[in-house]
Amino acid sequence: MRRAIGILFGSAFLAANVTACSNSNSSTTTATAASTAAPAKLKTAKVMASSNGLAVYTTNCSTCHQSDGKGAIGPPLAGNALVTGNASKVIHIVNGGLTGTISVNGKTFNGTMPAWKGTLGTGDIAAVITYIRSSWGNKAGPVTAAQVASTP
Ligand code: HEC
Repeated sequence: MRRAIGILFGSAFLAANVTACSNSNSSTTTATAASTAAPAKLKTAKVMASSNGLAVYTTNCSTCHQSDGKGAIGPPLAGNALVTGNASKVIHIVNGGLTGTISVNGKTFNGTMPAWKGTLGTGDIAAVITYIRSSWGNKAGPVTAAQVASTP
């Protein structure tokens, strides 16, 4: 169910933006999904990228990391130096998942995050990483689908 919603969301955004953004990712688009979502969000490529990242985040990440990025089951992503640091490290974690003890802002976490590669397309992973790097006061640059595809 969660995935079905995610695919619908992603498809709707992509379909709605397909003319505005030529480097949309490889997710399939459907005419039915296109008719339902976000007609007012076409203004600029920047708006498109962050809108899509927000949708991917809300569907796939917020259960564990919360919509405000402050964390719950998962560690906080807001104010997290790893998230705003080396882009390759963030991509590696989101692509491959993470397990084992980590320390974030002095607090210890020892949970498991699933791998997202294969579940989400490279464009959606790029959009969601761009979103977490630039939300809740985080200020770090975007990542591209090509970077996601070429990072192990
Ligand atoms: C099922 C819960 C869950 C979901 C869903 C989830 N995460 Fe996580 N995430 C975690 C846990 C737990 C950790 C820490 C793992 C550990 O303790 O080793 C983590 C760690 C991370 C980290 C590394 C943080 C650090 O400081 O090392 C990033 C980045 C991250 N998640 C991003 C995401 C993104 C982006 C999504 C959505 C695509 C997502 N997570 C979805 C549970 C989740």
